Amino acid sequence: MSCESGRRGGKIRKNQEKPSVLISEEKIRRRVEELARQVSAEYEGAGELLLLGVLRGCFIFLADLARLLTIPRSVDFIALAAYGQDAAPYGAVRLIMDLRTNISGKHVLIVEDIVDTGNTLEYLIHTLLPRKPASLKTCVLLRKKDRLEKEVRIDYLGFDIPDVWVVGYGLDYADRHRALPYIGSVKAD
Ligand code: IMP
Ligand code: MG
Repeated sequence: MSCESGRRGGKIRKNQEKPSVLISEEKIRRRVEELARQVSAEYEGAGELLLLGVLRGCFIFLADLARLLTIPRSVDFIALAAYGQDAAPYGAVRLIMDLRTNISGKHVLIVEDIVDTGNTLEYLIHTLLPRKPASLKTCVLLRKKDRLEKEVRIDYLGFDIPDVWVVGYGLDYADRHRALPYIGSVKAD
């Protein structure tokens, strides 16, 4: 059992307070339904679409999206890391686990929870393109527009958000809050 006391020495820490609602469960549901309709319409008749989830933050978004699509689809995962437990950058993006599928000739849709600097998505696109997919597009739930450092193409976007640390709906702060049904923000320490 972890301590939920909230305050220690008078200071509220980012991972101990209750996140305040930034995007409600209902708003997320409606937007994911819209994205699924858009993706289904655009890939209609194109054969199977491989949904490539970027672990771990994507797991709830991908599960909802995958069930709402009306086209043939399969699912695979890749794990990358850009940040440590304390949310400080490692510097480089690291490949933790590669996907199992041979994507040559396949339509691939990268499913990401959030684009912050854009480093992770850029790394991923550069890693996957040489494997010659039939197409490679990106579906991202959240984007911190003001933080973008890299020109990365987002084909399907859920929401633009301000530069705050967000948790819930798969996203974490130091591995906490992933299972919250809404997107919440936590204040800096
Ligand atoms: P980027 O490489 O800077 O675009 O960072 C992308 C990755 O950082 C995301 O896939 C997340 O894992 C993580 N990240 C960035 N901002 C947040 C946040 O506000 N909450 C949770 N994770 C985040
Ligand atoms: Mg991610």
